[in-house]
Amino acid sequence: MSLFEQACEVRGNAHAPYSGFKVGVALRVSSGKTFVGCNVENAAYPEGTCAEAGAISAMVASGESEIQEIWIVAEGSEPISPCGGCRQKISEFSKPDTPVILANPNGDSVRKTAGELLPDSFKPSHLEA
Ligand code: THU
Repeated sequence: MSLFEQACEVRGNAHAPYSGFKVGVALRVSSGKTFVGCNVENAAYPEGTCAEAGAISAMVASGESEIQEIWIVAEGSEPISPCGGCRQKISEFSKPDTPVILANPNGDSVRKTAGELLPDSFKPSHLEA
């Protein structure tokens, strides 16, 4: 299954009863393994988590840390724009030229890079002051 298809499939499992806005993410790492995530909302609203966070957590729990490509799928006339926090999370495990593909379930997509989505990100090197 393509990353797009995996993202669409996992999006069906999103728990989004409050916003009604379901998001699915699929990413591939250098070993070829793929990981998926969906948003998981909570009655205590701030406790909800984004789809990107779920996929990245699954990747890290599996011992992987280098995103090669990531697809983010949500409904909309134009592809989703990931939230700021998720841009930072993606940046932690990407290179500036890592492809981040934003899509809707119809297959309309926009290809960006991690660096385009979050230029001048806060980096580990900033902690070395
Ligand atoms: N959401 C994501 O999962 N990823 C994003 O990049 C943007 C927003 C989720 C959070 C919440 O469950 C719903 O979409 C509406 O904001």
